[in-house]
Amino acid sequence: MKKLLAANWKMYKTRAEAEATARDMVRLIAPSLPADREVLVFPPFTAIEAVGLAFAGQARFGVGAQNFWPRKEGAYTGEIAPRMLADLGCAWVLVGHSERRWVLGEEDGLLAEKVAFALAEGFKVCLCIGEKIEERRAGRVEEIIDGQLAAGLSAAGDIADGALAVAYEPVWAIGTGEVAGPADILHAHAHTRTRLGTILGEKGLRTPILYGGSVKPENASEILSLDNVNGVLVGGASLTGESFSRIALA
Ligand code: PGA
Repeated sequence: MKKLLAANWKMYKTRAEAEATARDMVRLIAPSLPADREVLVFPPFTAIEAVGLAFAGQARFGVGAQNFWPRKEGAYTGEIAPRMLADLGCAWVLVGHSERRWVLGEEDGLLAEKVAFALAEGFKVCLCIGEKIEERRAGRVEEIIDGQLAAGLSAAGDIADGALAVAYEPVWAIGTGEVAGPADILHAHAHTRTRLGTILGEKGLRTPILYGGSVKPENASEILSLDNVNGVLVGGASLTGESFSRIALA
């Protein structure tokens, strides 16, 4: 399966900063990117267009959105509809990132609606899942993965081939510098793979599973070599072209 190297820029970068980083990424990554890899950047809304322009002509560099509201349009002050993102050249959206779940208060019902709506609008969805530290300590990793996958996909109906990716991101490893060990990642990804097979059948076996949580140039190669790791979702270490290029080419 091909590997997806995804950058989540969160609430960082003005348009000019985003464009400069996107250009650095193309310059440093494109000439050596292995044929089975794709780069995907999730900038803040305001920089999506600038990043898309910087990626013009690069078939294996894509742009996604970190968030959206699951309606076509309407009286939703402050929100952005998927069709507005399509208009900017976005093909992907993130749903269920731990900061949306645990900082911004998005719950399973809304996340299920967002997954289903984005897929119906023709987007590719990266559904993020992962346990908190107290859930890990209580031996509940598999239960949390099962629950978040089942809930997130509960309204989705038939999912087109290639339209879904899952990112396993243990909450305690995001932005903390603490990366899950290889054994923990292997176990969580194998469990996620089995569960996706149960829910989606054959398609579940072809769904990319990304690891996220303190991925850095120093650990990317080992993580990317693990079974059932089909890519990475990178926050802090994706903010410069130099750092992200070492991950994308690891
Ligand atoms: P991090 O963030 O790489 O800074 O831990 C990952 C993420 O939030 O997707």
